[in-house]
Amino acid sequence: MENLRSMLDESVAAIRRVWNGSPRVGIVLGTGLQSLADRCQVDVALPYTEIPYMPRSTAPSHRGRLLLGTWCGVPVAVMQGRVHYYEGYSMQQVTYGIRLLKALGVHTVVLTNAAGALNPLFRRGDIMLIADHINLMGDSPLIGPNDDTLGDRFPDMSDAYSAALRQQIRTVALEQRILLREGVLVAVHGPALETRAEYRFLRAIGADAVGMSTVPEVIAAVHSKLRVVGFSLLTDECFPDALQPVSAAEIIATAQESAPTLQRLLEAVLPKIECQ
Ligand code: HPA
Repeated sequence: MENLRSMLDESVAAIRRVWNGSPRVGIVLGTGLQSLADRCQVDVALPYTEIPYMPRSTAPSHRGRLLLGTWCGVPVAVMQGRVHYYEGYSMQQVTYGIRLLKALGVHTVVLTNAAGALNPLFRRGDIMLIADHINLMGDSPLIGPNDDTLGDRFPDMSDAYSAALRQQIRTVALEQRILLREGVLVAVHGPALETRAEYRFLRAIGADAVGMSTVPEVIAAVHSKLRVVGFSLLTDECFPDALQPVSAAEIIATAQESAPTLQRLLEAVLPKIECQ
């Protein structure tokens, strides 16, 4: 990944050949959540294979294309599918899409994922607004030489998930009568799900949900001076003393079941975060 800047220039040029819009908000759709963009007015759907340097998604249920268009009146670039660290990609590759959204001109990114519930008050199918995170992936996209034109060497993480935006989103959720949890996401590298002892540990260190994505993207987004909103769809209950076996297929099915509620929330939120 030497010379990220020139790689991004090439990727942007490939997109600009087919689409000339000015996206304001970038959105990343996670596991089981690919249909959230069903009502997006898509001008161009560009497979990642047609964007130079964009890594290919190999995870189940990830479409692997960039949707360019308008959603609820907001010019958007939507990553329909992401790549994960557990697929064998480097942290730089995992966060390339975020760098690209920034290079396309977005000011805010909305990240979505499927995650396991650790907080015993939360339930399978709930939506959690991410308030903060713990990075337990053992790696960071910022390790290595820092390109000062992209961001600071030591980015401040004290308001990584914009408190102002979260306040607005809580209000929208109340108006829409959508139950919205809020909490801390811990990121692990996976791909094995956690043992009971690991879930107990993750809860003890202060996490409300656990997932295998999003956190590296948020680190890169904050480094890029993007505003961040994150939603976790809680697909399984990771309560160590009552743990049930769960499969990837069940995780995807639960995310798909609750996707319409997250879609309704997102569509109510989008116009509000655009005009900030
Ligand atoms: N652990 C990690 N990632 C996950 C889980 C989990 O239990 N559920 C959905 N994504």
